[in-house]
This record gives sequence, structure tokens and C-alpha cells, in this order.
Amino acid sequence: MRLLVTGAAGFIGTSFVRQALGPRRADVARVVVVDALTYAGNYANLADLAGDAGFRFVHADIADAPAMAALVREERIDTLVNFSPASCRSRPRTVKSRHSAVAAPGCSGG
Ligand SMILES: NC(=O)c1ccc[n+]([C@@H]2O[C@H](COP(=O)([O-])OP(=O)(O)OC[C@H]3O[C@@H](n4cnc5c(N)ncnc54)[C@H](O)[C@@H]3O)[C@@H](O)[C@H]2O)c1
Repeated sequence: MRLLVTGAAGFIGTSFVRQALGPRRADVARVVVVDALTYAGNYANLADLAGDAGFRFVHADIADAPAMAALVREERIDTLVNFSPASCRSRPRTVKSRHSAVAAPGCSGG
């Protein structure tokens, strides 16, 4: 499995990534994580994983569709797990105010 985990530097994402790269990772070949490091994300939550050959951190916004598409192709991602709250139905005001000009993928508004 080649995982792309978005919103991975937050509360739940950090724990998920650690599980995915943990001792029972036999079926996980690659974990690529994307986080915009906004109000809640903190790279320090994942920094100790940087030496793991199966791990890659990408500082990016999931609303950057061309960048996300390129990353999926480049890393041959087959599974996506999203923990970023920047979706159509649940977008906290904090994110909306900081990304007011950016539409989330698949959404009609910013
Ligand atoms: N924590 C809970 O108790 C709980 C309960 C129910 C649902 N949820 C949902 O689960 C998801 C994860 O929760 P959490 O507590 O880990 O959230 P969190 O706020 O701790 O983490 C969210 C992460 O997403 C990143 N992010 C935000 N906008 C982004 C963007 N545009 N592009 C890339 N990264 C972006 C942030 O930097 C942060 O690292 C959220 O959607 C939340 O609404 C959480």
C-alpha cells in the first residue's frame, strides 16, 4: 500500500501516521504526508520520522489540485486518507479566514 495522508501533522493524523509506519507495517510500503501547517499542524509532531525511508513530508495545501495530482502520480499513491478539515461540509472558521481565496477540491466556493 502506498498511502497519502493529508492533514497529517494534526492531532489524529500524527497518530495515524505513526500506526501506519509502526511495527505492523508489512503491507505499507510508503507513507507520504501533506500538511499546510496551519493553526493546528506542527511539523515537530512528525519530525522524528524523517529518517524513515518509507516516509515523506510535503508542506502543501490540499486545495492546490495540480500539486496534489502531481504528487499522487509521482509517488504512485493507491490509498488516500484525509484528516484535513478543509472540506466542503466541515471547514472551521479559522481555516476559512486564512484560506478565504482558496476553494477546497470539489467545492464550488472558497
Ligand atoms: N479531534 C477530534 O476529536 C475529532 C472528532 C471528530 C471529527 N474530527 C475531524 O477529524 C479530522 C482531523 O481532526 P484533528 O483533531 O486531527 O484536526 P487538527 O486540527 O488537529 O489537524 C488538522 C490538520 O490539517 C491541516 N490542514 C488544515 N487545512 C489544510 C489544508 N488546506 N491543506 C493541508 N493541510 C491542512 C492542519 O495544519 C492540521 O495539521 C478533522 O476533519 C476533524 O474535523 C476530529
